Amino acid sequence: MIMKRMKSMRSSTHNRYEVAKEKRSMIQKRNKNNSVAASAPENPADSHGLVQIVLPKPKLDSGTSVSKALQKRKTTREISERKLQLQTISNLLWAACGVNRKKGPFEITGRTAASASNSQEIDVYVLMQEGVYHYDPFRHQLDPVLEADLRPIAINPGQASLAAKAPFHLIYVADIDKLINSAGYQEPGLHDPEVQKSYYFVDTGMIAANVYLFAASHGLAAWFHNCNKPALAARLKLRPDQRVLFGQTVGYPKKK
Ligand SMILES: Cc1cc2nc3c(=O)[nH]c(=O)nc-3n(C[C@H](O)[C@H](O)[C@H](O)COP(=O)(O)O)c2cc1C
Repeated sequence: MIMKRMKSMRSSTHNRYEVAKEKRSMIQKRNKNNSVAASAPENPADSHGLVQIVLPKPKLDSGTSVSKALQKRKTTREISERKLQLQTISNLLWAACGVNRKKGPFEITGRTAASASNSQEIDVYVLMQEGVYHYDPFRHQLDPVLEADLRPIAINPGQASLAAKAPFHLIYVADIDKLINSAGYQEPGLHDPEVQKSYYFVDTGMIAANVYLFAASHGLAAWFHNCNKPALAARLKLRPDQRVLFGQTVGYPKKK
């Protein structure tokens, strides 16, 4: 009897392992071959005037030490209109949540920001004057989403005057589908809305902390904040299982 139960347990564990392995390999393939479909919104219709931006390779030899960055980390709300250079954008996005290992946990890509079960469910949208892009960390490029200046809604209406002209905004969007179909560790919490919420808020914080530290280390201003969620979700034509969470504005500090 016991032997039979052990055998059946072994076989169900084996099945679960096989299913997870298969899922991982499918998602890995999806990420490699079609990273746009894997992570970008399914709404490329409005992006016609924008072109894909292939980011230069991140340069990792600049900036202060982590300890110095920690000393300097702070929120700066007064941000100048001066645009960030493409190399800085590349470095910044890589630091935020770029790929830092081909093989991370569960045999899937590793990223600079931790995520629950290595689900990598936070999508980063970049808002600039010319339009909105989606950051594809696997190809390290910006994919066009919408040709419109959404910077005024990257922040709550009460603070729009402070942020609307800042050159560069990150919008963090959780994709629940990526949690449910995580290529990482399969656990029941991934299907529980309350647990999902705790995961995607923490995972956003992980990315935002990287951005704060990168900014501090490179003399940039950074500001994590709320944003106009309904307006952004509507303009980006997000699916119901995609949730706009927070924004983070980055630029050069305004000279006093
Ligand atoms: C979850 C969260 C939400 C925030 N929302 C806003 C916001 O909507 N507007 C704002 O001006 N600052 C916002 N902030 C920034 C905080 O006010 C700021 O981090 C705090 O005052 C501490 O300042 P420091 O970052 O310079 O240490 C937010 C920060 C966090 C962590």
